[in-house]
Amino acid sequence: MSRGKKLYEGKAKILYEGPEPGTLVAHFKDDATAFNNKKRATLEGKGVLNNRISEFIMTQLNSIGVPTHFIRRLNMREQLVREVEIVPLEVVVRNVAAGSIAKRLGLEEGEALPRSIVEFYYKNDALEDPMVSEEHITAFNWATTQDIDDMLAMSLRVNDFMSGLFAGAGIRLVDFKLEYGRVYDQNDMPRLILADEISPDSCRLWDIETNEKMDKDRFRRDLGNVTEAYAEVARRLGIMKENGPSEANEAK
Ligand code: TMP
Repeated sequence: MSRGKKLYEGKAKILYEGPEPGTLVAHFKDDATAFNNKKRATLEGKGVLNNRISEFIMTQLNSIGVPTHFIRRLNMREQLVREVEIVPLEVVVRNVAAGSIAKRLGLEEGEALPRSIVEFYYKNDALEDPMVSEEHITAFNWATTQDIDDMLAMSLRVNDFMSGLFAGAGIRLVDFKLEYGRVYDQNDMPRLILADEISPDSCRLWDIETNEKMDKDRFRRDLGNVTEAYAEVARRLGIMKENGPSEANEAK
């Protein structure tokens, strides 16, 4: 499978032109960043794990009718995806207080929220992704009110599905971040599909019994054993063998 020229390099992924028009190849790097790039490291094997975990979740979402950009995995570090016009928003769904909401509203980390809460952040590194309201989103034309309704409905559906999926693996889905992209079908009508990735980089995942963190907070807070925790998530989901992320472990 040939990939074309490099189109974009982000903090954790590189996007290349895909083999057919309207497709891209997403390459998952081992680089980790936090606090808007202020903290950086290379975590060997992270890209392989995130490629697999995101494939697993996106495939299941596709199968329950949540449209995603995922087409198929190409190899250990790459997947073929649909090209989208990315909506410049990060959509965060929260079930339990943690991270920025705990700080902003003075909540105890681990406190259950009265109901699942969806928040929007404007994707802009220079501004450090500020939280925005629906008013900002429509006024600045980042998305329409219909898009917002669609993102809310899809995000809550993803939350219900993933909460069950992780609970079955002994993991509490505390919160997560989604990104959406616009695609144009035959009739030129735009619609939104899920894009980017869903992985321990973009979710908070706690062991259901011990509350041990199994996500990127291990990196953000210097808790150690970051990729080991990601591998444990993959193992519990039944998608990776005991011996973890080594690229030598798997045939392409
Ligand atoms: P927060 O509590 O820092 O706002 O993060 C909420 C969720 O969003 C958490 O699961 C981590 C994820 N997230 C990202 O994927 N990318 C980001 O840039 C940030 C700030 C959070």
